[in-house]
Amino acid sequence: MCGIVGYIGEKNSVPILINGLKRLEYRGYDSAGLGILTNSHSVVIKNKGKVSLLEERVEKSNLSGKVGIGHTRWATHGVPNETNAHPHYNSSKNLFVIHNGIIENFRTLKKGLEKLGYEFQTETDSEVLPHLIDSFLKKGYPLFKAVRLALTEVEGTYGIAVIYENEPDKIVAARKGSPLVIGLGDNENFVASDVSAILAHTKQVIYLEDGELVEVYKDKFIVKTISDAEIEKEVHEISMTLDEIDKGGFSHFMLKEIMEQPETINNSMRGRILYDKGTAILGGLTDVLGRLVNSKRIIITACGTSWHAGLVGEYMFEQFCRIPTEVEYASEFRYRNPIINQDDAILFISQSGETADTLAALREAKLKGALVLGICNVVGSSIARETMAGVYTHAGPEIGVASTKAFTSQLVVLSLITLLVARRKNMSQAEGISIAEELMALPDKINKILKLNDQIEQIASEFKDANNFLYLGRGYNFPVALEGALKLKEISYIHAEGYPAAEMKHGPIALIDENMPVVFIAPKDSTYDKIISNIEEVKARGGRIIAIATDNDNGIDELVDYTIKVPSTIKMLMPILTVIPLQLLAYQIAVKKGLNVDQPRNLAKSVTVE
Ligand code: AGP
Ligand code: GLU
Repeated sequence: MCGIVGYIGEKNSVPILINGLKRLEYRGYDSAGLGILTNSHSVVIKNKGKVSLLEERVEKSNLSGKVGIGHTRWATHGVPNETNAHPHYNSSKNLFVIHNGIIENFRTLKKGLEKLGYEFQTETDSEVLPHLIDSFLKKGYPLFKAVRLALTEVEGTYGIAVIYENEPDKIVAARKGSPLVIGLGDNENFVASDVSAILAHTKQVIYLEDGELVEVYKDKFIVKTISDAEIEKEVHEISMTLDEIDKGGFSHFMLKEIMEQPETINNSMRGRILYDKGTAILGGLTDVLGRLVNSKRIIITACGTSWHAGLVGEYMFEQFCRIPTEVEYASEFRYRNPIINQDDAILFISQSGETADTLAALREAKLKGALVLGICNVVGSSIARETMAGVYTHAGPEIGVASTKAFTSQLVVLSLITLLVARRKNMSQAEGISIAEELMALPDKINKILKLNDQIEQIASEFKDANNFLYLGRGYNFPVALEGALKLKEISYIHAEGYPAAEMKHGPIALIDENMPVVFIAPKDSTYDKIISNIEEVKARGGRIIAIATDNDNGIDELVDYTIKVPSTIKMLMPILTVIPLQLLAYQIAVKKGLNVDQPRNLAKSVTVE
């Protein structure tokens, strides 16, 4: 799930590519590399690790050229080292390729090419591409056709950009399964895996679809399908601004994104609540609303944090819409030949809209004829485009690898869908209005919780050296326990487990001793007494307890070691509030451990490989 950027025009491409790569580093940061066509020849420069290292080397080298491509890697085949870094090239070192995805038949292709005398230098799957394209160039085809013919032999996924010293007036790019946009400028054009890399230069883009190739010149572009049919593309105007993707004065993107939540959830609700009618209006669902309301079953499919949002959605849909709901990991759903009926609605939740497993599950569900819906954050992303209908979360770009604001926005959108569907069924206007009121009150309540950051920082100091954590919650707050544990694991590398609180006595209780911090999500609701009993059970075994409680709860402080008090709301919306202290706790612990919060080890923001 690497980042790809390319430039062709009148300017020096090198600083443009370096800045583009910095914006794409969230997609992978194992290595970084550039391929540049200078006036007289071509140059490739690459290294293990961050773009900043590449930048230092480039600055020393005075490298300059008007055509170039750049890559940040998230390794799938071959260790992250300099040799395996992209661009990869042919033996004459005049053809450069950057690749995002996995070439599944690379072993077969490699054997065939080795028989023809091609020598391989890297352990990557991607290196077959320059050699394969080279084999078609040697047959006398021009670059575009050589790339097209080469790709007909490739199985797997790719977003690629290719430059060739002998045809220096173009970049050839292609897409199958990995995102690619073309940015259109004034006598200059760009290629990128997402718009953040090129937004400083242009807001006019075209999105490449799977099975499409593009020949990009500085002043024109030609898009064709892999079977050589020319196609017209629509030009889109991007509304996102650069300010939106900067750190905005915070030390980390993650902290900025946590702090933005009063605003981002407002954006998710904006123009969508019909207060007087006690319902919601979601333009993206209008055409399919009848089918959704009458669906016999909802299946929510997603990965990671988005899957946790799905679990909360299950509670909402079953409680208010009275539609049986299942939640499934996309990676499991896609391979088990699931039973899907025509009257099922299948909802795919994804921040990035590019997660490979979720996208594949979506294609499977679509094939089986179900109503296929999406909740995505990234506008124009693959999942957003391939679902029949859906709702954008409008949380703005999320750069920190650990998802925070996207999660709370997903929960808001799930509440809006609940309101919309339930009001068409049994929910009364009065109940609808009370939910709408509670939704609208959330931003102020979140502001209050964010003020607890200093208190949470102190708790983080106390617990930063723990080796394990247990997170427990019930009902709507069980998924919050899972999410709290995932946040801590991802960025602090502390082992953490989330469980339904009542399950503790069926196993995890054996872990409890004075070294085991236990986080209870314990708002005053109908399961409060039960969770207090679970707290007592942990206390009796010497466990140290942090409780997330509601601010109307005066009794809990005596029972636990630390209490973080959040305002109350109705049960279905409580996760939007209770998760925020857990995001801050994970953040503060990771900072205190001196870890790279925004780019934790082994992870990448957008998981576009299986
Ligand atoms: C969240 O903190 C994770 N980095 C990860 O679990 C993520 O939620 C998952 O990969 C799904 O991503 P998506 O929402 O972009 O599909
Ligand atoms: N499969 C390629 C590699 O390991 C590309 C991975 C990516 O998408 O970053 O180099």
